[in-house]
Amino acid sequence: MDFELTEEQRLIRDTAHDFARTEIAPKAAEIDKSGRWPAEIISKMAELGFLGMAIPEEYGGAGLDALSYAMAMEEISAACASCGVIMSVNNSLFCDPVYKFGTAEQKKDVLTPVAAGKKIGCFGLTEPMSGSDAQTMVTEAKKTGDTWTLNGAKNWITNGPHADYVLVFAVTERPSAPGAKVRHTAFLVPKGTPGFTLNPADHKLGIHGAHSCTIFFENVKLPDSAIVGGAGDGFKVAMATLDGGRIGIAAQALGIARAALEVSVAYAKERKSFGVPISQHQAIQFMLSDMATELDAARLLTWRAATMKDKGVRHSAESAAAKLYASETATKVAHRAIQIHGGYGYSTEYPVERHYRDARITEIYEGTSEIQRIVIAASLLKG
Ligand code: CAA
Repeated sequence: MDFELTEEQRLIRDTAHDFARTEIAPKAAEIDKSGRWPAEIISKMAELGFLGMAIPEEYGGAGLDALSYAMAMEEISAACASCGVIMSVNNSLFCDPVYKFGTAEQKKDVLTPVAAGKKIGCFGLTEPMSGSDAQTMVTEAKKTGDTWTLNGAKNWITNGPHADYVLVFAVTERPSAPGAKVRHTAFLVPKGTPGFTLNPADHKLGIHGAHSCTIFFENVKLPDSAIVGGAGDGFKVAMATLDGGRIGIAAQALGIARAALEVSVAYAKERKSFGVPISQHQAIQFMLSDMATELDAARLLTWRAATMKDKGVRHSAESAAAKLYASETATKVAHRAIQIHGGYGYSTEYPVERHYRDARITEIYEGTSEIQRIVIAASLLKG
């Protein structure tokens, strides 16, 4: 097994690291506190090619691999988890499926500006009463003549308030025969299409700069050319997309955990108790060791999943394992980081309380930890 990165991968990681450290990290606390959308950082991420990293250059992307994407995601998220998920949704949940399943026209007209970061995309799967059990969605699209009419609502849509396009999943066939499967279809819906409205942004525990909202579709008219991946194939489009998306969230969790570990190491060397820096107490050393070891294990799982994606082999269980372990690690690492910081860790003066709040969502979005366990178990038990 070769753990060596290529020169290009190292360059991407270092570029992301420098950009995140100098241009994002100094603003992260303010973005969290104000809850503002980091527009100027998104523009710079676009200039660096970070909004369509794995999309070929002919479609506005940077033409890189999934491992480079995972490394850049970790770096950006270590500075600001909100910026990380904005980037992740645009890359994994919008650009990837439009590239993989879209028509030549969709790639030219929609993917190209989104991958270049001139426009923003989002992913509309979750509904008020359908999260983990995604097939039970009620949003539906009915065809009359050449036109589809879309009705329903999607919620927790990250990037929703600012997105120019939503990839929406809807039921398009509800057979009455017992046992027959409901069929879903994915549609590209431009913001501003008549019948498309938004609620104000959601209020959340963390990732305050990454805005999400509910989007409503009321008699939204769509042509056949809005379909991504074939009528009736939408659920598979959604699931295959999430296989890639979960690598992005795993990498976001790595970034959050790494940031929490780094400030904990620095603090442990400075803070004294019982006459010595607390880093000399074994209780603190053991916590730091566990944090570092779990973070490393999470990174290896994430890189394995990314490498499998690059090889074009099915990686559903590997992505689920990476996301499960990295997200639970991020929460545990941030928890210990607060413990090491004591009372200061609980105060907004130090960044670890932000890391703790930001980490928590990684165990929920793009499939809860319980859903990841279901995906892993299905792979173990199949056949
Ligand atoms: N790739 C391709 N096809 C797949 C697939 C994959 N990874 N996983 C399943 N499929 C196919 C199956 O083969 C099956 O095909 P057939 O109908 O031809 O047999 C079909 O999809 C249905 O599969 P299942 O029977 O396994 O589906 P299920 O109803 O049991 O659901 C589930 C499986 C894993 C629980 C799924 O519902 C799931 O992943 N739920 C979680 C949803 C989720 O992650 N939501 C997050 C929303 S996005 C978000 O959070 C964005 C954000 O803002 C950051």
